[in-house]
Amino acid sequence: MEKQIQVAIDGPASAGKSTVAKLVAKKFHYVYCDTGAMYRVVTLAALNRGISMEDTAQISKLAQEIKISFAPGEPEQKVFLNGEEVTTDIRQGRIDQNVSAVAAIPEVRQEMTNLQRQIAREGGIVMDGRDIGSTVLPDAPVKIFMVATAHERARRRYVENKAKGIKTASLEELQKEIELRDKKDSSRKVSPLTQAPDAIRLDTTQLTIDQVVDKISTIIKKTLNELG
Ligand code: DC
Repeated sequence: MEKQIQVAIDGPASAGKSTVAKLVAKKFHYVYCDTGAMYRVVTLAALNRGISMEDTAQISKLAQEIKISFAPGEPEQKVFLNGEEVTTDIRQGRIDQNVSAVAAIPEVRQEMTNLQRQIAREGGIVMDGRDIGSTVLPDAPVKIFMVATAHERARRRYVENKAKGIKTASLEELQKEIELRDKKDSSRKVSPLTQAPDAIRLDTTQLTIDQVVDKISTIIKKTLNELG
């Protein structure tokens, strides 16, 4: 059987990582793991329990207690919090607005990183996030850093929200929110959003989803060939 490798896809919010990562995983029959969804689940759990976003000790404790799980689903992977489906709940505006704060808590990151490493242990995985190539899977043979302009990313999120029937902010508000989240994700102390030195940078502003999937697939095939 062909070798099953780890593929790390990082980049800023709404660069198209999850859409692309999911398609790439399908193509290679790999498992897909959306690590952003994991931070979103912790955020949802904290908000549901009325925990203040400043109470990092309580949030860290919660991150250790809850069970986060995934199941295949169309058009998107299903996400569960303690066995209850929260796929749509974690995409609400209140989660978008608070998730950066939760993702900046070192103990939360440590807990999620451990979980992510466990999921990726056997290889045959496409994992997307912010710190996968730099911190979670530093030995991944394929690392992609996907970028696009903030304007294009806001446009994509707007269209996506509408299609999913999620109440959406205006395009201008979304762009501001994305820029703010980029800033927070890039400037936090622990595992900030950063391109790993050995990651391949892919600007998707002018590319279709299929073109991005093709480019990444070519890189994976080349790597598989090299690894023999
Ligand atoms: O990709 P997303 O928008 O669902 O990510 C949600 C938040 O989680 C985002 O603000 C950054 C954070 N995140 C992170 O810090 N590390 C990851 N590996 C994935 C996401």
